[in-house]
Amino acid sequence: MPSNSSEFAQRIPADIRCAQDYEIAAQGTMSEASYAYVAGGTGQDLSVAANLAAFAKWSVYPRVLRDVKEGHTRVQLGAQTLAHPILLAPVAFQKLAHPLAEIATAHAAQAMESCIVCSTLATSPLEEVAAAAGSEKWFQLYFQTKREDTLQLLRRAEAAGFRAIVVTLDASIQVASMRALKAGFRMPEDCLAVNLPQLEQQKVELSAGASRIFQGMMLAAPTWSDLTWLMSQTSLPVWVKGVMHPEDARALQAAGVAGIVVSNHGGRSLDGAPASLSVLPAIRALVGQDFPLLLDGGIRSGTDVFKAIALGANAVLIGRLQMYALSVAGALGVAHMIKLLCEELEICMALAGCATLADIDANALLPHL
Ligand code: FNR
Repeated sequence: MPSNSSEFAQRIPADIRCAQDYEIAAQGTMSEASYAYVAGGTGQDLSVAANLAAFAKWSVYPRVLRDVKEGHTRVQLGAQTLAHPILLAPVAFQKLAHPLAEIATAHAAQAMESCIVCSTLATSPLEEVAAAAGSEKWFQLYFQTKREDTLQLLRRAEAAGFRAIVVTLDASIQVASMRALKAGFRMPEDCLAVNLPQLEQQKVELSAGASRIFQGMMLAAPTWSDLTWLMSQTSLPVWVKGVMHPEDARALQAAGVAGIVVSNHGGRSLDGAPASLSVLPAIRALVGQDFPLLLDGGIRSGTDVFKAIALGANAVLIGRLQMYALSVAGALGVAHMIKLLCEELEICMALAGCATLADIDANALLPHL
């Protein structure tokens, strides 16, 4: 990291004591409209609320006299071993939060031995994000209208050294956030999705509703043949993000994807979709114990990470907290947020008598009635 980088001028505010404190602190560092854009979901924010509420429905059993002295949080994801199960979700337009945007996030991921998943809609060139990240870096791909454009992104990601492709399939229609619209949010002129080939694609406009769906936006939406085609084009592992139905998960497993991210896009796509945590056990039951599953949506603490693992995830992705921490203290903030989550997870594991992630299962949880 360059030692004169402005991110080093930033300090972690003294009142940040847990990862979720970044959510409150970000309300003082982001404009009201930008905060609304990041925090909001679609429609009535039903799925945003569901994601958060799903974690509160479970308690963790404390256990006694268990020997956890050899404890660790290492996790195997495909060919990769990560020091802990906390990855950074693809989050678009990070310049909204900090001038160093995805580059700062990538530095933080490297410092904390996390894995960054760089969004197709990053505001920094993907090659620079890859260079700033450590060896653990994945690229999130949105299918483009033209296959040649999708292929170009794929080839650039491969050349930049990303180790996996995460195809997001749950956002074929860009649904505007009511909260962002009501707050008067407009994407700043300099917040461009610089990795897309055409300038007009790089600018994002928020509109209240799309007038043409089936013969409009959905004309360009990917189908099974596009996924099969994509998988035939790369030797990198292809994960699929945005899967909520157990039958979709089973079919994707049969199609040979490397793993699945159980996600409702943080409540930013289909409003009224269930909480991602609530569909996780059924998906795990159908795909079996050995198939890699990640979960995101609503994780705000290390105890939430524990609950996700207990209900079937191998690891989790963090979305909004990443943007909040980035806006409060740049790379330092994101690294600190990951550190806090790791500490919270380790505390929870130790008190629940789990020495490794493999020791965490549904028996560790008690549902609230
Ligand atoms: C996202 N998310 C997202 N997902 C994706 O696949 N590609 C993307 O470009 C984006 N962009 C994006 C922007 C913003 C501002 C947010 C908040 C989210 C969804 C993200 O990867 C993840 O699924 C959710 O954010 C997880 O929920 P939490 O952790 O935010 O509750």
